[in-house]
Amino acid sequence: MVIKEHLTLAETAELLGKNKETLRRWDREGKLSAVREPISNYRVYRKSDVLELFADFELNINDIESNFVAPENEYKVLELFAGAGGLAIGMEQAGIKCAALNEIDKFACATLRKNRPHWNVLEGDIKNFNFSGYNDIDIVTGGFPCQAFSYAGKKLGLADARGTLFYEFARVVKEVNPPICIGENVRGLLSHDNGKTLQGMISILNEIGYDVVPVEVLKAINFKVPQKRERLILVGIRKDIDIKYYYPKPFKKVYHLKDALKKGELFDCDVPKSNGAKYPSSKKAVLDLVPQKGYWRDLPLDIQKEFMGGSFYLGGGKTGIARRIGWDEPCLTLTCSPAQKQTERCHPDETRPFTVREYARIQTFPDDWEFAGSLAQQYKQIGNAVPVNLGREIGYSIVKFLNQYYSLLKSNN
Ligand SMILES: C[S@@+](CC[C@H](N)C(=O)[O-])C[C@H]1O[C@@H](n2cnc3c(N)ncnc32)[C@H](O)[C@@H]1O
Repeated sequence: MVIKEHLTLAETAELLGKNKETLRRWDREGKLSAVREPISNYRVYRKSDVLELFADFELNINDIESNFVAPENEYKVLELFAGAGGLAIGMEQAGIKCAALNEIDKFACATLRKNRPHWNVLEGDIKNFNFSGYNDIDIVTGGFPCQAFSYAGKKLGLADARGTLFYEFARVVKEVNPPICIGENVRGLLSHDNGKTLQGMISILNEIGYDVVPVEVLKAINFKVPQKRERLILVGIRKDIDIKYYYPKPFKKVYHLKDALKKGELFDCDVPKSNGAKYPSSKKAVLDLVPQKGYWRDLPLDIQKEFMGGSFYLGGGKTGIARRIGWDEPCLTLTCSPAQKQTERCHPDETRPFTVREYARIQTFPDDWEFAGSLAQQYKQIGNAVPVNLGREIGYSIVKFLNQYYSLLKSNN
């Protein structure tokens, strides 16, 4: 019997309009990984994986070569909520200069300073900084933490959002008044407070003089990142500018865990050795029983029940629990703490979480980017980041937009 949250090979083939042989090939290539139904050993597919791929078809992904565009001028970014610099390095790799970065966390600031002593790192609560003097900035970026607004009237205005970090983001955009601003967030913002939070943000950006491009959720796996992370991107274009912004085009090629940890197209050597967290012995004993690409469903029934506790009876796939990642699939989204309950992403061959440098590789940080603070602080900074390669592709899309903007400005003068 096939368990409810799984689809058979035939059902998946029909849903995706592909034949069974293509699906078997996709399984070998890691594009759509099947799992084995425990009793019959037939190939079955997690419904969530199939639906995710189905959404990709609608994106109409082409096999593009590159999104690279060389900057025709020196462009400057002000990066808010900068963390350990994932997005900032991506911008730098796209040829954009980091004019200043704001971050409240002292360890993340130490990371930024350690790696880029010349960057202007403004440490402290964003509320305490005024950016009115920064009037040569082309881009304001920021991954503001998501918080609910309280609605006084029908349409949310900037003043109503006071006290939230989005308010601070919008306030800085208003002070700096750049041609383009980019907010990044988790996919959950789409449905936060039934979509009202996002609508509120769009109406506030409108009020301060920015048209918001239709919001998209970019999948890191489509941008040379061997990880299934997603980022919601909120692009605001100053209202006096009549130039269309285009999101970076997704790549067809999907990279896998082996591309992150071993020498290959993404990195020119195997991952360097480094410190890493360990699982408590009871968790290790359970994860020892999970095969590559497997998860809690692959455990003997009595251990499933003990490991899952009450959630065993709650239904739903929960395919991220007690998961051992396979070499030939992208990693699941990394969290801020690698040994935390219910989000285990175990190394394929050894029963342990990924080390710090492995974590950094999966987020496509360069090997020479060092992280400051305790082991836990380092994992947190990496887990919080925008993957560098995704940041770089977003950077190219901004460069393309700004090249057009400044060339139009020049031809009008
Ligand atoms: C999602 S992380 C940003 C990650 C970053 N964009 C990157 O790519 O590495 C959000 C950051 O906002 C910072 N933050 C939270 N509250 C803040 C505040 N009041 N002022 C400044 N930074 C703040 C957090 O410390 C955290 O590093």
